[in-house]
Amino acid sequence: MIIIKNKASIEKMHNAGKILSGIFEQLPSVILVGTSTSAIDSWIEKELLKNGLVSKMKGYMGYKHVSCISLNDEVVHGVPADSKIIKKGDLVKIDVCASLKGYCADMARCFFVGETSQEIKKLVEVAQNALNAGISKAYAGNRLTDISAAIQAEIDKHGFGILKDFAGHGIGKSMHEDPEILNYGEAGKGPILQVGMAFAIEPMITLGNDDVYITQDGWTVKTKDKSFAAHVEDTIAITNEGPIVLTRYNQKEQV
Ligand code: MF3
Ligand code: CO
Repeated sequence: MIIIKNKASIEKMHNAGKILSGIFEQLPSVILVGTSTSAIDSWIEKELLKNGLVSKMKGYMGYKHVSCISLNDEVVHGVPADSKIIKKGDLVKIDVCASLKGYCADMARCFFVGETSQEIKKLVEVAQNALNAGISKAYAGNRLTDISAAIQAEIDKHGFGILKDFAGHGIGKSMHEDPEILNYGEAGKGPILQVGMAFAIEPMITLGNDDVYITQDGWTVKTKDKSFAAHVEDTIAITNEGPIVLTRYNQKEQV
């Protein structure tokens, strides 16, 4: 069942999203060569606390951190660790879901450490464009898979891989609500979108093959062919005026 949110609830999610995106803006100053991903996670935890945000990840199915930090060929759900040290040329994906007064915002971004190849820059750009293409279909009256198909079309243009076993999701008081939002598929299927629906849309794409596996830590998702991967995520709400992005306060909120 897709939970419809009223204006006040969406406003609360937006407040969470504004603060969360403000924290993301500061991340480049923390993602430094020689730093461990667990140190970055601790910094995020401190920022969440400072701003009154509650992590939705810590404690979720036994997860012990407030963020997922995925490096290079790790696609998503990278577990922060003292042994994972940021080095020059890394592609760092950070994903955080937190709530304010019980209402969630979920977002992820890619960060480059130093010089990056044109190929990897393109990969990240396409992930971002695919996310925007998906958001641009989040209008009342459209169908759910209009979002999926728009995401896929953008990625297919460049021949990148799309993860099939992971998806975006509804979001509200819980981090994960119905529906599941696939990053591929035929348009025109699934529930009719309505004002008051809120989604976390999150394309996960690879430079090579889309086959992935979960590492020994039980969480980290990695590409089998070791190709680099990109992941971006925004929380959006469908309003009478169309989609609004709840997790881009200081960036462009409209797509
Ligand atoms: N925020 C992510 C998502 O979109 C990651 C959830 S996994 C967690 O689903 F355990 F780390 F929370
Ligand atoms: Co999510």
